[in-house]
Amino acid sequence: MIPAVSLRGRDFLDVGDLDPAELRSVLVHAHAIKAGRWAERPLEGRHVAMLFQKPSHRTRVSFEVGIARLGGTTTSLGEHDVQLGRRESIADAARVLDRYVDLIVARMRSHADLVQLAGAAKKPVINALTDRSHPCQILADLMTLEEACGPLGEQQIVYVGDGNNIATSLIEASALLGFRLTVISPPGYEPANQVLERAKAIGSGTSQVLVSNDVSALDGATAVYTDVWTSMGQEDQTAARRRVFAPYQVNQRLMDAAKGAVFLHCLPAHRGEEVTDEVIDGPRSIVFDQAGNRLYAQMALMAEIMGTEK
Ligand code: CP
Ligand code: NVA
Repeated sequence: MIPAVSLRGRDFLDVGDLDPAELRSVLVHAHAIKAGRWAERPLEGRHVAMLFQKPSHRTRVSFEVGIARLGGTTTSLGEHDVQLGRRESIADAARVLDRYVDLIVARMRSHADLVQLAGAAKKPVINALTDRSHPCQILADLMTLEEACGPLGEQQIVYVGDGNNIATSLIEASALLGFRLTVISPPGYEPANQVLERAKAIGSGTSQVLVSNDVSALDGATAVYTDVWTSMGQEDQTAARRRVFAPYQVNQRLMDAAKGAVFLHCLPAHRGEEVTDEVIDGPRSIVFDQAGNRLYAQMALMAEIMGTEK
């Protein structure tokens, strides 16, 4: 099976970099790979550099396995290796990588730095998480929701938590595909206005994103999604965030109010903070299928970016 749309040579810095047909195509392709209906090796003879300025489990392993399954090889570099912006400038590092590798996957502290890296590199760059967004995660989430709940257009996704990177990418996906999304955050932690404005601009005008501080705004929820209260790099704010976010914990009471909804979490989970054991280990939790789908979603993405002419 051949995807209808190619992203050949493109960067993937945000979900909103795609148009609706391109996003749909990646999802269709991801399902096909998982089902064993597409097993080509477009990365044969190609090498991928992965740069991590923050820790990673799922992203690093799922990319490494996916690259190997697509026929490629990879080098993963941690925080103390390249030391982007300190040991050498981001632009210099990009120019050097261009001469060694075919694709760059980067987890950067600052989204602006990722944009700079992508601007300086001729080779395609994939965002593996920044402070602004986590688009690869959302590809896997959409795939998981389609498997568990059917067409996205019939779903009402309720994200409860910090309006930062996961929320940004969910909002952009909602704008492109038109599914209903409620983002429930404590006052002061809502998604940035810029993110909501961009979503309006990239959507077809059918964006259905509601932002609320009311943790009971769960009407019609088919999925409840949460993320850590303290993201990587914010550890000095942990105590304050525990106080502010406490009423927004996804516990059994909240899931009882969201009757029938499945539960998602990008992981890692801080059990006892944003989610209780009862919920994450409960029958409605699909978090491990969600983590597993990172592999297929990213294989589809890389195949479309690195694929040969169709
Ligand atoms: N969800 C996710 O990106 O996990 P890691 O931080 O472990 O890569
Ligand atoms: N918001 C979290 C997501 C981790 C996958 C963080 O940035 O640490």
